[in-house]
Amino acid sequence: MATPPQTESHRSERFAAYIAARRFDPPRPLLMRAAALAEPKDHALDAGAGALNATKYLLSAGFAHVTALDSAPASQKEAEELPADRATFVLSRFEDFRYPAGAYDLVNAEFALPFIRRESFAAVFAALLGSVKPGGVFTGQLFGLNDSWNTAESGMNFHGRNDVERLLHGFEIVELEEEDHPGKTKLGEPKHWHIFHILARRTG
Ligand SMILES: C[S@@+](CC[C@H](N)C(=O)[O-])C[C@H]1O[C@@H](n2cnc3c(N)ncnc32)[C@H](O)[C@@H]1O
Repeated sequence: MATPPQTESHRSERFAAYIAARRFDPPRPLLMRAAALAEPKDHALDAGAGALNATKYLLSAGFAHVTALDSAPASQKEAEELPADRATFVLSRFEDFRYPAGAYDLVNAEFALPFIRRESFAAVFAALLGSVKPGGVFTGQLFGLNDSWNTAESGMNFHGRNDVERLLHGFEIVELEEEDHPGKTKLGEPKHWHIFHILARRTG
C-alpha cells in the first residue's frame, strides 16, 4: 500500500480519527522527563492537545493549572472531562492564539507543530517559545526533511537538524533525538518518519 498523501483537505477528519485512536494511550516518556525537569509547576501549556493525554498527565504530575490548546472540536469535546478549576481548554489555531510572554513553566507540543503552514511557522514557533518562562521547559516534536509527508501539497513545515538547533536559540538543548526510518502512522498507514524529539530549557 502506498503512503497516503498529507493534504489539508481531509485533515480535520484525520485529526478526529487520531484523537479517537489516542484516547487511552499512556504519556510519552519524553513528556514525563520534561515534566520532571519543570520547576515550579504552576502553569503548563499543552499545544495541539488532541485527546488530552498530556494535559491529563501534567495535571496528575502536579501542575497547578494546564491550558490545553487545539483547533479540533473533537479535542474540545474531550476537554469536558477536565477539572474546570485546574484546566482551561482554548479552541484556537496555533496561528491565532495570543501567546502570553514568559507565562508557562512548561510548553508541550507533541506531534502538532509540523501542521503549521511553512510560511507561518517561524513567527508562530517564536511566539510559542516566547511563552516559556525563563528557566522553563519546552518539549515536543518537529519533522525532518526526509519525512514522507514533506511534499508541497502537505502545507506542513519540515526542518534539518541545524535549522532545529537554530530555532531553539535562547534555549539549552537538553535532548535532541532524531528518528529517520519507515514505519506506520497511528491510523495504521505506512509512512517514512523523520522526527526530532526536543527537550529544551529556556536560558534567557
Ligand atoms: C497528530 S495530533 C497530536 C495530538 C496530541 N498532541 C498527541 O500527541 O496525541 C495533532 C493535533 O494538533 C492539532 N492541530 C493541528 N494543526 C493545528 C493548528 N494549526 N492549530 C491548533 N491545533 C492544531 C490537531 O487538531 C490535533 O489534535
